Amino acid sequence: MKKPTIIVTGGAGFIGSHTVVELNQSGFRPVIVDNFSNSEPFILDRIAELCGEKIESYTIDCTKEEDFERVFSNEKPDGVIHFAAFKAVGESVNEPLKYYHNNIGSLVVLLNLMEKHGVRNLVFSSSCTVYGQPHQVPVTESSPAKNSQSPYGFTKVVCEQMINDVHESGSHLSAVLLRYFNPIGAHPSGKLGELPRGIPNNLVPYITQTAAGLRSSLTIHGNDYSTSDGTCIRDYIHVVDLAQAHIAALNWITKSEEATVEVFNVGTGNGNSVLEVVNTFQDVADQSLNYSIGPRRSGDVEQIWASTEKAEKILGWRPSLSLKDALRDAWNWQQKLK
Ligand code: UFG
Repeated sequence: MKKPTIIVTGGAGFIGSHTVVELNQSGFRPVIVDNFSNSEPFILDRIAELCGEKIESYTIDCTKEEDFERVFSNEKPDGVIHFAAFKAVGESVNEPLKYYHNNIGSLVVLLNLMEKHGVRNLVFSSSCTVYGQPHQVPVTESSPAKNSQSPYGFTKVVCEQMINDVHESGSHLSAVLLRYFNPIGAHPSGKLGELPRGIPNNLVPYITQTAAGLRSSLTIHGNDYSTSDGTCIRDYIHVVDLAQAHIAALNWITKSEEATVEVFNVGTGNGNSVLEVVNTFQDVADQSLNYSIGPRRSGDVEQIWASTEKAEKILGWRPSLSLKDALRDAWNWQQKLK
């Protein structure tokens, strides 16, 4: 039987690359579309090593419709997973138009091409940032999406709405919107992982770079929140578990007879504080980490973690890896990078 072809935009990125490997191992034929604006071409070789075969890839900017259409014409895809987007919250505050152009513009192009080429199934990368600070934790999918505090977050709210609007307009579009919590970790082989450019914004790459001696010290952004130890709480999910959620989403949407749009949280259902992450890392790496407490970072929510019931019940997906596993794999990746 012919393997279903899935276009993976941003397929050389952190979550994209892990998902391409899982797709390959699950009987799909992934085709990568990436402009390498925030990823490295050598990742394609790593993906090929892990898959045991070369994965088709196109160096294309998804906002360029003529270029992107070539992929649809050549590959005749059965579905699309759309990762390609800018994701730095702080940068989006300083350069909002860059985010609106890329994140929203690429989705407009993609939805047009899917319509034109009769491609029904889409899995879209959204974020728990759409909840802002929820009134209750764990947060369920029915909690209201808020106007985000950053242009980046706002692009996720707008993109979700765009997909709903196109679906409602009578198009055949069927989509799963995955709201990621905090993806961390790396492939257990140490061949794939996060490659932040410049100074990392996110906690775990900052920790591993500090432990590797590339940064002198981690600053914990505030310890005066109303949480058990005063530091913020997040739901950290291993990137391999997250990648597998895309396979479950794709299988589910492919089987659904009616065109539909469904949203799912993708987290672990557990919250961990920044200090818990630091302490777990120290255990896993068997070394102490230089850190100090600094002021709060503007825009941070105090605490959020996911209810994962809906994904478990409908997609039959649940994470299997722990915070410890994720930090061990992130540290292994960092050491191999050196
Ligand atoms: N943190 C530090 N020091 C650092 C970096 C982070 O203390 O050097 C803290 C943050 O203040 C926060 C926690 O670690 O309390 C996690 O911060 P991250 O930057 O790793 O993650 P965020 O939760 O801020 O952001 C992540 C994604 C965003 C997404 C958001 C949704 O990076 O893309 O989750 O909540 F929008």
